[in-house]
Amino acid sequence: MNTMAKKRIEILFENDEILVVNKPVGISVTADRGGADDLLMLLTRQLSPAEPLRLVHRLDKETSGILLIARSRTAQSRYSRLFAKRMIQKLYLAIVRGPLPYRGGSIKDPIARSKRNPQAMHVHPRLGKPSHTVWKELADFGTLSLVAAQIVTGRTHQIRVHFAHRGMPLAIDPIYASAEPLMLSAYKSGYRPKIDKEEPPLIDRLTLHAYQLTIPVGPQEDAEMRTFTAPPDKKFVAAVKLLAKYKDKSAPGFHDQNDLLRILRSEQMEYPLKTETGQRLSRREKEAAYNRILVSEEQLEQTVRDLARRLNDSYPVNEPATAVVLLEGARRFAEDLLKHLVFTVEVRYLKASSYYGSTESSELVCIEDSEKTGGQIAGRNVLVIDDIYDTGRTLAHVLDWIRTRQPKSVKTCVLLEKRVRHEKQITIDFGGLEVDNAFVIGYGLDYDGKFRDLPFVAALPDDFEN
Ligand code: IMP
Ligand code: MG
Repeated sequence: MNTMAKKRIEILFENDEILVVNKPVGISVTADRGGADDLLMLLTRQLSPAEPLRLVHRLDKETSGILLIARSRTAQSRYSRLFAKRMIQKLYLAIVRGPLPYRGGSIKDPIARSKRNPQAMHVHPRLGKPSHTVWKELADFGTLSLVAAQIVTGRTHQIRVHFAHRGMPLAIDPIYASAEPLMLSAYKSGYRPKIDKEEPPLIDRLTLHAYQLTIPVGPQEDAEMRTFTAPPDKKFVAAVKLLAKYKDKSAPGFHDQNDLLRILRSEQMEYPLKTETGQRLSRREKEAAYNRILVSEEQLEQTVRDLARRLNDSYPVNEPATAVVLLEGARRFAEDLLKHLVFTVEVRYLKASSYYGSTESSELVCIEDSEKTGGQIAGRNVLVIDDIYDTGRTLAHVLDWIRTRQPKSVKTCVLLEKRVRHEKQITIDFGGLEVDNAFVIGYGLDYDGKFRDLPFVAALPDDFEN
């Protein structure tokens, strides 16, 4: 009897548009070459959907974990577009061979299909397609490490190839490293398997699990960023626990014990790729920005001080207020502003993102509340801190989101206001400066991840507009 077919696929989330499932190891996402039932067939049998289920992205047969599936053609194209625009974040857990030379990094080796072995991919500087993986070490067990990996691009076997190429291959990977199972006896000193019994392997599958997925959910004009996690199977979890327990004495194990707890409880993990900040500017880019300064460093300092003074005059010293800082753009401004405040402020961060890499804010604003700020708003005096009032869509959306959570009061503090006809009228209670209707950069404001670090605000040099 085929036991696989009996097994139910774990559904992590569903609505009219999508399913988020936890794919077990050994099930092909589609058209299994060995003729076994593929995931879509299994799910179709399990759910009897009205419309055929459709793929949006893939996982290798030997990789377990989170997978998004569309329930209609419209949903398929919506989410495929989001993947293409890199609006979807995904985090993998991988057990790799260590010790690793760094605690984390960014790998950009171009990947192509191998000519010699059409089943395999490899790094090829000339023929490879741009590929980008960002990773961080969660635990160092000595000869093995547990890492979190985030893929910016989604090439076939990307994590497996990138890690193998950098000398940190998956602990078990039949194509790019070793197919040998991991045995506890290799890690636990003095371990003796029971007499006459062969030692069972600690884990004997590809040591890669797709753990977490962040996607916009709900109607397009009012989507919310949601993060889902897929619990790794028992063997994977047991392997991580035992490796943590029987690690080399000299190895640190988990750098943050909370990461182990998060995995055990299938809670959300922090993405290795923080934001697109900190991209180095070329000299030409820097010069171009210096030539278009709109607000100097000194003017910014003065403006921040003035705003702080007005805030200090308006808020009572002894009633704590909640500052909600909109990421990523307002971080820098808020940090400087908060230094000058004399009343008690609890600082919260909220990520409100529109499509990035474009100079026009899109119709889609998503709120990603990874700090559970939403639960901290009722009854509080909330001060929303943002970088710039442009169309007003973001602020309007955030203010609605906050107001439905019953704050005692809501005020807005915004550094810059563009001289444009705002699409949404927002009351700016504490406003800094007006700037001309141009796309502006610097002092936290970015264009496609660039220019945030500039200490002044400038108009975006012409040749960047696209
Ligand atoms: P909105 O158009 O008012 O919704 O602005 C949304 C967000 O887009 C702002 O909070 C900024 O983070 C970003 N933004 C708007 N205009 C600019 C700009 O000129 N430069 C950089 N970021 C901008
Ligand atoms: Mg912003």
